Amino acid sequence: MTAPTLPEDSPALRAQAIATARASNATGINVNKAGNVSVRCMRGAQAGFIITPSAVPYDALTPEALVFVRVGDGRAQGRRRASSEWRFHRDLYAARPELAAIVHTHSPHATALACHGRGIPAFHYMVAQAGGADIRCAPYATFGTPELADAAVTAMAGRRACLLAHHGVIACGATLDAALALAIEVEHLARIYLLALQVGEPPVLDAAEMTRVIERFGSYGRA
Ligand code: 13P
Repeated sequence: MTAPTLPEDSPALRAQAIATARASNATGINVNKAGNVSVRCMRGAQAGFIITPSAVPYDALTPEALVFVRVGDGRAQGRRRASSEWRFHRDLYAARPELAAIVHTHSPHATALACHGRGIPAFHYMVAQAGGADIRCAPYATFGTPELADAAVTAMAGRRACLLAHHGVIACGATLDAALALAIEVEHLARIYLLALQVGEPPVLDAAEMTRVIERFGSYGRA
Protein backbone atom coordinates (compact mmCIF):
# COMPACT_ATOMS: atom_id res chain seq x y z
CA MET A 1 0.00 0.00 0.00
CA THR A 2 1.29 3.44 -0.91
CA ALA A 3 1.15 5.74 2.10
CA PRO A 4 -0.17 9.13 0.93
CA THR A 5 2.32 10.87 3.20
CA LEU A 6 5.46 9.59 1.46
CA PRO A 7 7.86 12.36 0.40
CA GLU A 8 7.69 13.29 -3.28
CA ASP A 9 11.35 12.40 -3.79
CA SER A 10 10.87 8.83 -2.50
CA PRO A 11 12.61 6.64 -5.10
CA ALA A 12 10.15 3.80 -4.39
CA LEU A 13 7.12 6.05 -4.94
CA ARG A 14 8.51 7.49 -8.18
CA ALA A 15 9.42 4.00 -9.42
CA GLN A 16 5.91 2.77 -8.65
CA ALA A 17 4.31 5.68 -10.52
CA ILE A 18 6.46 4.95 -13.59
CA ALA A 19 5.73 1.20 -13.35
CA THR A 20 2.00 1.99 -13.24
CA ALA A 21 2.21 4.20 -16.33
CA ARG A 22 4.16 1.51 -18.19
CA ALA A 23 1.69 -1.16 -17.06
CA SER A 24 -1.13 0.90 -18.59
CA ASN A 25 0.58 0.45 -21.97
CA ALA A 26 1.50 -3.19 -21.37
CA THR A 27 -2.08 -4.10 -20.45
CA GLY A 28 -3.45 -2.35 -23.54
CA ILE A 29 -5.52 0.24 -21.65
CA ASN A 30 -3.33 2.98 -23.11
CA VAL A 31 -1.32 3.26 -26.31
CA ASN A 32 1.59 5.57 -27.09
CA LYS A 33 1.38 8.60 -24.79
CA ALA A 34 -2.32 8.52 -23.97
CA GLY A 35 -3.36 8.88 -20.34
CA ASN A 36 -1.52 9.91 -17.20
CA VAL A 37 -0.82 8.69 -13.67
CA SER A 38 -0.51 10.44 -10.30
CA VAL A 39 -0.08 9.58 -6.63
CA ARG A 40 -0.38 11.68 -3.49
CA CYS A 41 2.77 12.63 -1.58
CA MET A 42 4.31 15.41 0.48
CA ARG A 43 6.96 18.02 -0.29
CA GLY A 44 8.03 19.07 3.18
CA ALA A 45 4.79 20.26 4.78
CA GLN A 46 3.05 20.79 1.41
CA ALA A 47 0.45 18.22 0.42
CA GLY A 48 0.42 17.35 -3.25
CA PHE A 49 0.97 14.64 -5.80
CA ILE A 50 3.51 13.55 -8.36
CA ILE A 51 2.17 13.21 -11.89
CA THR A 52 3.54 11.99 -15.20
CA PRO A 53 4.89 14.81 -17.39
CA SER A 54 3.01 15.92 -20.50
CA ALA A 55 3.82 14.24 -23.81
CA VAL A 56 6.68 12.05 -22.57
CA PRO A 57 6.41 8.40 -23.73
CA TYR A 58 6.21 6.10 -20.71
CA ASP A 59 9.23 4.08 -21.87
CA ALA A 60 11.29 7.26 -21.74
CA LEU A 61 10.13 8.27 -18.24
CA THR A 62 12.79 8.82 -15.60
CA PRO A 63 12.11 9.46 -11.90
CA GLU A 64 13.22 13.11 -12.29
CA ALA A 65 10.68 13.68 -15.06
CA LEU A 66 7.70 13.29 -12.71
CA VAL A 67 6.27 16.63 -11.61
CA PHE A 68 5.15 17.59 -8.11
CA VAL A 69 1.88 19.57 -8.01
CA ARG A 70 0.52 21.21 -4.83
CA VAL A 71 -3.08 20.26 -4.09
CA GLY A 72 -3.73 23.66 -2.48
CA ASP A 73 -3.10 25.90 -5.49
CA GLY A 74 -2.08 23.62 -8.35
CA ARG A 75 1.46 25.03 -8.44
CA ALA A 76 3.75 22.64 -10.32
CA GLN A 77 7.40 22.10 -9.43
CA GLY A 78 9.59 19.99 -11.68
CA ARG A 79 11.91 19.95 -14.65
CA ARG A 80 9.14 19.03 -17.09
CA ARG A 81 5.67 20.37 -17.74
CA ALA A 82 3.03 18.49 -15.72
CA SER A 83 0.45 16.39 -17.56
CA SER A 84 -2.09 18.56 -19.33
CA GLU A 85 -4.70 16.89 -17.10
CA TRP A 86 -3.16 18.00 -13.79
CA ARG A 87 -6.36 19.96 -13.03
CA PHE A 88 -8.69 17.02 -12.77
CA HIS A 89 -6.09 15.13 -10.71
CA ARG A 90 -5.79 18.16 -8.40
CA ASP A 91 -9.54 18.73 -8.10
CA LEU A 92 -10.21 15.06 -7.37
CA TYR A 93 -7.55 14.99 -4.64
CA ALA A 94 -8.94 18.23 -3.18
CA ALA A 95 -12.52 16.89 -3.18
CA ARG A 96 -11.81 13.31 -2.14
CA PRO A 97 -9.39 12.84 0.76
CA GLU A 98 -9.72 9.04 0.61
CA LEU A 99 -8.27 8.85 -2.92
CA ALA A 100 -4.49 8.62 -3.14
CA ALA A 101 -3.82 7.55 -6.73
CA ILE A 102 -5.33 8.25 -10.16
CA VAL A 103 -4.92 6.46 -13.50
CA HIS A 104 -6.36 8.10 -16.63
CA THR A 105 -6.72 6.02 -19.80
CA HIS A 106 -8.15 6.05 -23.28
CA SER A 107 -8.92 2.32 -23.06
CA PRO A 108 -10.73 1.29 -26.25
CA HIS A 109 -14.01 -0.32 -25.18
CA ALA A 110 -14.73 2.14 -22.38
CA THR A 111 -13.83 5.05 -24.66
CA ALA A 112 -16.13 3.66 -27.38
CA LEU A 113 -19.04 3.87 -24.92
CA ALA A 114 -17.93 7.33 -23.82
CA CYS A 115 -17.96 8.49 -27.45
CA HIS A 116 -21.71 7.87 -27.32
CA GLY A 117 -21.90 9.69 -23.97
CA ARG A 118 -22.84 6.39 -22.33
CA GLY A 119 -21.71 5.18 -18.94
CA ILE A 120 -21.89 1.59 -17.70
CA PRO A 121 -25.14 0.64 -15.94
CA ALA A 122 -25.60 -2.21 -13.42
CA PHE A 123 -25.77 -4.84 -16.17
CA HIS A 124 -23.14 -6.85 -14.22
CA TYR A 125 -22.54 -6.93 -10.48
CA MET A 126 -18.83 -6.05 -10.88
CA VAL A 127 -19.85 -2.49 -11.77
CA ALA A 128 -20.01 -2.07 -7.97
CA GLN A 129 -16.19 -2.25 -7.92
CA ALA A 130 -16.28 1.42 -8.87
CA GLY A 131 -18.21 2.16 -5.68
CA GLY A 132 -21.85 2.39 -6.75
CA ALA A 133 -24.68 1.12 -8.93
CA ASP A 134 -23.26 2.54 -12.16
CA ILE A 135 -20.19 4.11 -13.73
CA ARG A 136 -21.20 7.54 -15.00
CA CYS A 137 -20.03 9.31 -18.13
CA ALA A 138 -19.07 12.97 -17.62
CA PRO A 139 -20.19 15.36 -20.38
CA TYR A 140 -17.56 16.43 -22.89
CA ALA A 141 -15.19 19.29 -22.17
CA THR A 142 -11.85 20.06 -23.83
CA PHE A 143 -8.89 18.16 -22.38
CA GLY A 144 -6.92 19.96 -19.71
CA THR A 145 -9.64 22.53 -18.92
CA PRO A 146 -11.23 23.49 -15.59
CA GLU A 147 -14.57 22.55 -17.20
CA LEU A 148 -13.33 18.98 -17.69
CA ALA A 149 -12.09 18.89 -14.08
CA ASP A 150 -15.51 20.07 -12.82
CA ALA A 151 -17.31 17.47 -14.94
CA ALA A 152 -14.99 14.72 -13.68
CA VAL A 153 -15.48 15.59 -10.00
CA THR A 154 -19.27 15.59 -10.49
CA ALA A 155 -19.34 12.26 -12.37
CA MET A 156 -17.07 10.73 -9.73
CA ALA A 157 -19.36 11.60 -6.78
CA GLY A 158 -19.65 8.45 -4.66
CA ARG A 159 -17.55 6.52 -7.18
CA ARG A 160 -13.92 5.62 -7.82
CA ALA A 161 -14.22 5.64 -11.62
CA CYS A 162 -16.02 7.49 -14.38
CA LEU A 163 -15.95 7.79 -18.16
CA LEU A 164 -15.30 11.08 -19.96
CA ALA A 165 -17.36 11.71 -23.11
CA HIS A 166 -15.32 11.60 -26.34
CA HIS A 167 -12.21 11.05 -24.24
CA GLY A 168 -11.61 8.10 -21.89
CA VAL A 169 -11.62 6.86 -18.31
CA ILE A 170 -10.56 8.03 -14.86
CA ALA A 171 -9.95 5.37 -12.20
CA CYS A 172 -8.90 6.15 -8.64
CA GLY A 173 -7.89 4.22 -5.56
CA ALA A 174 -6.17 4.28 -2.22
CA THR A 175 -3.03 2.99 -3.97
CA LEU A 176 -1.54 3.02 -7.47
CA ASP A 177 -2.16 -0.74 -7.73
CA ALA A 178 -5.83 -0.26 -6.83
CA ALA A 179 -6.29 2.57 -9.34
CA LEU A 180 -4.63 0.54 -12.12
CA ALA A 181 -6.69 -2.57 -11.28
CA LEU A 182 -9.88 -0.52 -11.43
CA ALA A 183 -8.91 1.03 -14.77
CA ILE A 184 -8.43 -2.50 -16.14
CA GLU A 185 -11.74 -3.61 -14.61
CA VAL A 186 -13.63 -0.69 -16.17
CA GLU A 187 -12.22 -1.57 -19.58
CA HIS A 188 -13.18 -5.24 -19.11
CA LEU A 189 -16.73 -4.32 -18.04
CA ALA A 190 -17.10 -1.97 -21.01
CA ARG A 191 -16.04 -4.79 -23.33
CA ILE A 192 -18.60 -7.19 -21.85
CA TYR A 193 -21.28 -4.48 -21.97
CA LEU A 194 -20.59 -3.81 -25.65
CA LEU A 195 -20.85 -7.59 -26.31
CA ALA A 196 -24.13 -7.79 -24.37
CA LEU A 197 -25.47 -4.84 -26.39
CA GLN A 198 -25.08 -6.93 -29.57
CA VAL A 199 -28.27 -8.78 -28.62
CA GLY A 200 -30.07 -5.73 -27.24
CA GLU A 201 -29.92 -3.58 -24.12
CA PRO A 202 -29.28 -6.02 -21.26
CA PRO A 203 -31.46 -5.91 -18.14
CA VAL A 204 -29.87 -4.27 -15.10
CA LEU A 205 -29.63 -5.35 -11.47
CA ASP A 206 -31.90 -3.30 -9.21
CA ALA A 207 -30.70 -0.82 -6.60
CA ALA A 208 -31.33 -3.21 -3.68
CA GLU A 209 -29.18 -5.90 -5.28
CA MET A 210 -26.36 -3.47 -6.05
CA THR A 211 -26.45 -2.28 -2.41
CA ARG A 212 -26.14 -5.94 -1.33
CA VAL A 213 -23.18 -6.44 -3.69
CA ILE A 214 -21.43 -3.32 -2.40
CA GLU A 215 -21.88 -4.58 1.18
CA ARG A 216 -20.44 -7.99 0.27
CA PHE A 217 -17.47 -6.36 -1.46
CA GLY A 218 -16.73 -4.77 1.93
CA SER A 219 -15.66 -8.17 3.27
CA TYR A 220 -14.55 -9.81 0.00
CA GLY A 221 -10.98 -11.10 0.06
CA ARG A 222 -10.61 -10.66 3.81
CA ALA A 223 -9.50 -13.75 5.74
P1 13P B 1 -0.56 14.35 -21.20
O1 13P B 1 0.59 13.75 -22.01
O2 13P B 1 -0.45 15.85 -21.14
O3 13P B 1 -0.69 13.67 -19.85
O4 13P B 1 -1.91 14.10 -22.00
C1 13P B 1 -2.35 12.81 -22.29
C2 13P B 1 -3.84 12.69 -22.23
O5 13P B 1 -4.33 11.57 -22.28
C3 13P B 1 -4.68 13.88 -22.09
O6 13P B 1 -6.01 13.53 -21.82
